[in-house]
Amino acid sequence: MSEETPAIHETPGARVAARVERRWVMLSLFIVALFVVVAAFAGIHQAAMPQARVETISPARLHLGGEFVETNLGSAVEPDGSVTVRVVGQQYSFTPQCMLVPTDTLITFRAASPDVIHGFLIEGTNVNTMLVPGYVSVIAARFDEPGEHLMPCHEFCGVGHEGMWAKVKVIDKAEFLKMADLKPRLSCVE
Ligand code: CUA
Repeated sequence: MSEETPAIHETPGARVAARVERRWVMLSLFIVALFVVVAAFAGIHQAAMPQARVETISPARLHLGGEFVETNLGSAVEPDGSVTVRVVGQQYSFTPQCMLVPTDTLITFRAASPDVIHGFLIEGTNVNTMLVPGYVSVIAARFDEPGEHLMPCHEFCGVGHEGMWAKVKVIDKAEFLKMADLKPRLSCVE
């Protein structure tokens, strides 16, 4: 045999394979870039961003004193007219189980968990965060219309996870303020 065998990467088959592989690499990079653009657009468009500051709290002492004692939970009107709703999420319920908020008002939810990670999501809004033991989750919302929103826990937290939910009841602002005059902490738990 006088002819030299061509090196493996110089055969016609290898050249075709290299061309096809380059195309797939380009296509994969394009898909990754597309996902980055979609994620960036969704984040910017819906103003999703990390919390500006992180507050810590002892999960073991949550119920013993301070902001998250049972008597301090629920909705409170602040001096600036906004409303703060304090919530505890634990295996397998939220307290209060029904949160009462007014329309057309800045609502700040402050929530904490004494045990494991729970989800904090209000249907029909962009409120969607996690309750991580050791931290206070703070998230703002505003409701234009009276109505009810379900609040299912959306982080698997144990055997009772699927039964863990609460609701947010939005009522007319004037009615809410009238009730707030009579009671310092409001909820719609009957
Ligand atoms: Cu709490 Cu799932």
